[in-house]
Amino acid sequence: MRILYLGDIVGEKTLEVLKNNLEQIKKENNINLVFVNAENVSSGKGLIEKHYQELMKMGIAGISMGNHTFSKSEITNYINDAKIVRPANLPCNIGKDVLYINYNGQIIALVNMLGRVYTNTPLDDPFKTMDELLKNIKADYIIVDFHGDATSEKKAFFYDFSGKVDAIVGSHTHTQTADEEVYNNTLFISDMGMCGPYDSILGDDINQVIDRFRTGMFTPLKVANTNKYKINGVVLDLGIKRSIKRINIEVKGD
Ligand SMILES: [Fe+2]
Ligand SMILES: [Fe+2]
Repeated sequence: MRILYLGDIVGEKTLEVLKNNLEQIKKENNINLVFVNAENVSSGKGLIEKHYQELMKMGIAGISMGNHTFSKSEITNYINDAKIVRPANLPCNIGKDVLYINYNGQIIALVNMLGRVYTNTPLDDPFKTMDELLKNIKADYIIVDFHGDATSEKKAFFYDFSGKVDAIVGSHTHTQTADEEVYNNTLFISDMGMCGPYDSILGDDINQVIDRFRTGMFTPLKVANTNKYKINGVVLDLGIKRSIKRINIEVKGD
């Protein structure tokens, strides 16, 4: 089983870029399934249904989110029936806390967890939430997208749940880390990075972000408008010999 997991997709134009490059990446890496983090697709925050449908047309098997899950309120209209998993430790009762994917009879459970360090959201304990989920999950493979800021929290979660889940991949910082490893047969990376505009600050317009820091005026940010994009993610090989490989590609937009 080989899974391509793409980091936070930033902006709707990036969907077009992925559409043009996904088949090639899948072919080169013998990919069976593609998962993505899609919390930043629609104007940089959230996921409207139209963009969700575009991801489905691309054949994406599962979508995880993060602190921007509900940034576009229309997601509440369709999330319950969608191939979307929301952070399991969000204390809300809409959306799934485990997404089950059936691939030729093999069941993959996809879990999304939000970190609490530097995260300004009322959240349940991600460690205790995972303990509880593991009592009920029945699957051949369990994959967790841990969405958070602090490397220490992600790494602690990894060592705590190594051997109990198959992969823990980080998201949220939009910056790919070079700390991928395998421990107790569990694959890990602190952060997969992002798919989005190359010349940007975490996907957003450079001048606007500089202005925020220089003036303290928190005007809404726009996704950067460039024609160079990066595609970041990981290839998870869940075969007998397990491995994790980083994907970091630079491609042209339109
Ligand atoms: Fe993000
Ligand atoms: Fe995030």
